[in-house]
This record gives sequence, structure tokens and C-alpha cells, in this order.
Amino acid sequence: MADFVKVADLADVPQGEVTLVDFQGGEVALANMNGTIYAFSDSCTHMAGRLSQGLLEEQIVTCPSHGGQFDITSGEAVTEPPTEKLTTYRVQVNDGGEIQLAAP
Ligand code: FES
Repeated sequence: MADFVKVADLADVPQGEVTLVDFQGGEVALANMNGTIYAFSDSCTHMAGRLSQGLLEEQIVTCPSHGGQFDITSGEAVTEPPTEKLTTYRVQVNDGGEIQLAAP
């Protein structure tokens, strides 16, 4: 059974923005898309650009380094140069509005 760990409150993750949190010794980006929270590695699979500093449009995040794009709902790389999938994390939000993550 996976252990979910609180990393933020829903109020910390406004719609359309990317928020960084610490999880298991690394940085994980959280995005709020129409009330659903997605969690993914902050580090682009191309050359480790910081995706939290990129642009988020709908479910697509654009890496600020070379313009690569990922679908945050699946982690799939949708625009090169990255070709490797992004690590995504399992998310649950409890009744108290706590965002909790578990390893992929
Ligand atoms: S580091 Fe992200 S596209 Fe190059």
C-alpha cells in the first residue's frame, strides 16, 4: 500500500500556475487544472530545464530552456527536443484540502 504524504494545501496551488514542493528529497511540480491536481518532476528529461519556470497552457507545460513540451496528465513528451517521458506522481486530495503525493 502506497504511502501518501502531504506536500501542500489546495489553496497553495492556484489554477493555471505551477507550484514547487519538496517530495522524497527532490522537487516536484504541482499544477491545478480545472480543480484537478497533477504532479510531475520539475526536471525536464532533455537537459534538466526547470519546468516550474516554464509556461503552462491547459495540460501542456513548455520547458523554458529549449521549448520542449510535456503533457502533464500523462508525462508524455509531445514536442522535441525531449523524447523521454516525464516522471509523474500519484496525487490525492483529502476532505481537508490537503494535497498528498505518492511515488509513481
Ligand atoms: S532542457 Fe527542456 S527542452 Fe531542453
